[in-house]
Amino acid sequence: MVLLLLSFMEKEQTIEKDDLREIYSRPTASWPAPHVSPSVSWKELGLLPESPIAHSDSLQPMIELGKILFFDTKLSGSGKISCASCHDPALNWTDGKKTSVGHEGAVSKRNSPTIQNTWYYNRLFWDGRSRNLQDQAFGPINSETEMHSEMYEVMRKLSRSSAYRQMFKKAFGDEGIDPDRLTEAIAVFEKTIISRKSRFDEFLEGNKKALSNSELRGLHLFRTKARCINCHNGPLFSDNLFHNVGFSGAEQGYYKVSHNEADMGKIKTPSLRDVTRTGPWMHDGQFNDLQQVISRYNLAKFPPGVADTLLRPLGLSVREKRDLLAFLGAISAPPVEFNKPAIPE
Ligand code: HEC
Ligand code: HEC
Repeated sequence: MVLLLLSFMEKEQTIEKDDLREIYSRPTASWPAPHVSPSVSWKELGLLPESPIAHSDSLQPMIELGKILFFDTKLSGSGKISCASCHDPALNWTDGKKTSVGHEGAVSKRNSPTIQNTWYYNRLFWDGRSRNLQDQAFGPINSETEMHSEMYEVMRKLSRSSAYRQMFKKAFGDEGIDPDRLTEAIAVFEKTIISRKSRFDEFLEGNKKALSNSELRGLHLFRTKARCINCHNGPLFSDNLFHNVGFSGAEQGYYKVSHNEADMGKIKTPSLRDVTRTGPWMHDGQFNDLQQVISRYNLAKFPPGVADTLLRPLGLSVREKRDLLAFLGAISAPPVEFNKPAIPE
C-alpha cells in the first residue's frame, strides 16, 4: 500500500514537472494567471530589454567620456575614490559590502545598488530622492560620506587636462567643462550598463533546456503562491514603485520625497536581475544570505499597519523555498568582461 502510494506520488510529480515545462514554453501571454491582488497593475516577466540608447551612435563620444569620468578618482576630494569604487563592474557594479565605505573610511547607511538597468527607474536611490541619472550623479560627488568633493574643485582639476578638454569638445561641441556636462556624460554612460542575458532569457528565446526542473518550479512559485510578482514584475522584476516590506527599520524611505504619511518606510522595489550576485541585500544590506530573505517573506509577520498589504504569510515548504532560490539564480548572470578605461592625467 505504502509502495503504491509512493509510486503514485512520484507519478504526480513527474506530470507536474512536464506540465510546467510545456506550459512555460508557450508565449508569455498564455502563461497561467499570476496570483496578484486586484489593486496591482502588474506586467508579465519577460526578455531583458535593450537600453534605450543602444543604437544612438551619435552619443558615442559622450558615452566614452562618461565612462572615463566614472572611473576617475579626480572626482573625489581625496583623489582616491571613483564611482567605480562602489559600483565595480567585476561585482555586477556593486561593492559587495553591507553598506558602502567612502571618503576616509566613512560608512554610509546604505547598501550600494548595482547601476545595471538603472535607465529603467522613474526615480533613483532606495528612497527615490533623485529624479534621473544626471541629477543622481551630483549626489555622490558632493556627499560627505562618499566622494566628499566640491564641484568647482572637480571642474578646476579636469579643466587643467588637455585630454579632458578634447573629450568634452568631442562630446559637446566645445571645450567647456561644467557640472551639467559632467553629470550628463556620466548619466549617458550609465544608460549603456545593462545586465547580461540570463538563462531565463535563453529559455524565453526557445531553449527549453535552459532551466532546470527546480528553476521552473521556482518561476511558477514566483508568479503564483509566493506572490513575488505583485511587486517584482515586468522584464526587470521591478514595478518601479515603493513599498514597505516590513523590515525597513527606522527608515523614512519615500516619505522623505512625498511627505505623505502613507509612504513612511517605503523603499524602491529593486530589480531582481543578477540578484544572486548583488548581495548583501536590501537597502541597508541586512541580509547576507538570499535564503534568509526568502524565509523572511515566507513568515510575513509584521507589526500591523506597517507592512504592505500585498505581503502575507506564504506557507512555502522547504523545497519550495529552495526552488524559489533556484529561480533567482536563473535570472542572474555573471558580470560582463569590462575593460576599465585609461584615465588621463
Ligand atoms: C562610497 C561609495 C559610493 C560612491 C563613491 C558612489 N556611489 Fe553610487 N551609490 C552608493 C550607495 C550607498 C547608493 C545608495 C544610496 C541611497 O539610496 O541612499 C548609491 C546609489 C547610486 C545610484 C542609484 C541606483 C538606484 O538603483 O537607484 C546610482 C545610479 C549611482 N549610485 C551612481 C553613482 C555615480 C555616477 C557615482 C560617481 C559620481 C557614484 N554612484 C559614486 C555608493 C556609492
Ligand atoms: C510588496 C511588494 C513586494 C513583494 C510582494 C516582494 N518584494 Fe522583494 N522587495 C520589495 C522591496 C520594496 C524591496 C526593497 C526593500 C528594502 O531594501 O528594504 C525588495 C527587496 C527584495 C530583495 C533584495 C534585493 C536587493 O537587491 O537587495 C530580494 C532578493 C527580494 N525582494 C525578493 C523577493 C521575493 C523572492 C519575493 C517573493 C517571495 C518578493 N521579493 C516579494 C518589494 C516586494
